[in-house]
Amino acid sequence: MKICCIGAGYVGGPTMAMIALKAPDIEVRVVDMSAARIAAWGSDKLPIYEPGLDEVVRKTRGRNLHFSTDVKGAIQEADIVFVAVNTPTKTYGVGAGRAADLRFIESVARTIAECANGPKIIVEKSTIPVKTAETIKDILAANGRGIKFQVLSNPEFLAEGTAVADLLSPDRVLIGGERTAEGAAAVKVLSGVYARWVPKERIITTNLWSSELSKLVANAFLAQRISSINSISALCEATGADVDEVANAIGMDSRIGPKFLKASVGFGGSCFQKDILNLVYLCEHFGLPEVAAFWEGVVKMNDWQKHRFTVKILAALYNSVADKSIAVLGFAFKKDTNDTRESPAITVCRNLIAEQARVTVYDPKVPAEEIRRDLLGEAESPLLTIAGNAYDAAKGAHALVVLTEWDEFKALDFGRIYEAMSKPAFIFDGRNILDLDKLRKIGFRATGIGK
Ligand SMILES: NC(=O)c1ccc[n+]([C@@H]2O[C@H](COP(=O)([O-])OP(=O)(O)OC[C@H]3O[C@@H](n4cnc5c(N)ncnc54)[C@H](O)[C@@H]3O)[C@@H](O)[C@H]2O)c1
Repeated sequence: MKICCIGAGYVGGPTMAMIALKAPDIEVRVVDMSAARIAAWGSDKLPIYEPGLDEVVRKTRGRNLHFSTDVKGAIQEADIVFVAVNTPTKTYGVGAGRAADLRFIESVARTIAECANGPKIIVEKSTIPVKTAETIKDILAANGRGIKFQVLSNPEFLAEGTAVADLLSPDRVLIGGERTAEGAAAVKVLSGVYARWVPKERIITTNLWSSELSKLVANAFLAQRISSINSISALCEATGADVDEVANAIGMDSRIGPKFLKASVGFGGSCFQKDILNLVYLCEHFGLPEVAAFWEGVVKMNDWQKHRFTVKILAALYNSVADKSIAVLGFAFKKDTNDTRESPAITVCRNLIAEQARVTVYDPKVPAEEIRRDLLGEAESPLLTIAGNAYDAAKGAHALVVLTEWDEFKALDFGRIYEAMSKPAFIFDGRNILDLDKLRKIGFRATGIGK
């Protein structure tokens, strides 16, 4: 069997590497239109950072895992074509700021229709609005050569930072297919691929639309928990309750559960906001404004939390940060990834730079040029510096702001950092990972979300 995956990103790369690892008899080809990305997948420095991924790629690359820019050739050879291209929020025209931009999906469907030389199973791996499979089917059916395709929905539930562990042992694999004999046969083929390492009871099958919608709903529910606890963090600050204690107390209720209850400066990443906005757009489209407003609240709460955190920094620093030095630790949207898409650090740093603060950023995995691009675009600014470690970032700083929960930040020598900072020295923990009581004892004026 031959598999190809179009899109060598955070999803396509790790997912295909895992299939190649667990199914050595399957030839897996990952293709992308970005030559730079493909070159990086073939090098010692992979384009994405994921714990454990280097090892999986090292074992499989050149054996049954191949990376290439030859999209058409890979489609022609493949029995199964995964589509894992990006589906960002539309920034123009109808549905701008909410709907998913499906131009990459559509262009891939057209390429498949144009160059396929026989029947194939097409698998939607990208997260897409309900009924996109219909669009794909329509375009494929217009190939003019009578070639038959089966379209399946197989959304990816991996989380960045734990992608390898999630792929090795997924809570479930979801496959949606048409309720026809041909659809059932295609579902069986794809289930057979996952069954090499995923227990059968964890592979669930549904109709196409349920599968597409389940991915949006899963992300909406996860993000909703973060916004819920973040809303309570504001109430804790106002009342003197401790949000960690509240989270612990409610999380021990088995109906609520302990996961995703950590108050923070907000969620980021390429998916949560985009997928909720997509859900909101769908609800509006189907005439359900109340449902749309309910879910939109999750995104609004997140925006408010990021803003609220910046205001907190300003207020503590005597309402002015102009010409003050602020060290920012962490720029990725969470630990163990180099992904900065929608990272709260972008909002907070931009706000600080807009207030004329001199911002020095350090992140263990995000390259300096990425931080500059995210904050300044193509412009330059003397207000932004990138440091090579946390201690250099903190030198002379009036305040230190922790924006990613990297483990190495918990292990820093804060005595040494305090000595190097301007006094009074402030610490703002946007991730609730530091022991603020201890830091206060050293002399810091420390504050965190909900504290
Ligand atoms: N990142 C995550 O954690 C995650 C998790 C689950 C699902 N998803 C979904 O998976 C999809 C992909 O996300 P990602 O984070 O991997 O995106 P990404 O931007 O990292 O990767 C997408 C890749 O597709 C390539 N591409 C786009 N159009 C192409 C075309 N016509 N031909 C060839 N290559 C093309 C791009 O060059 C890019 O390298 C999205 O729909 C996303 O919502 C992402």
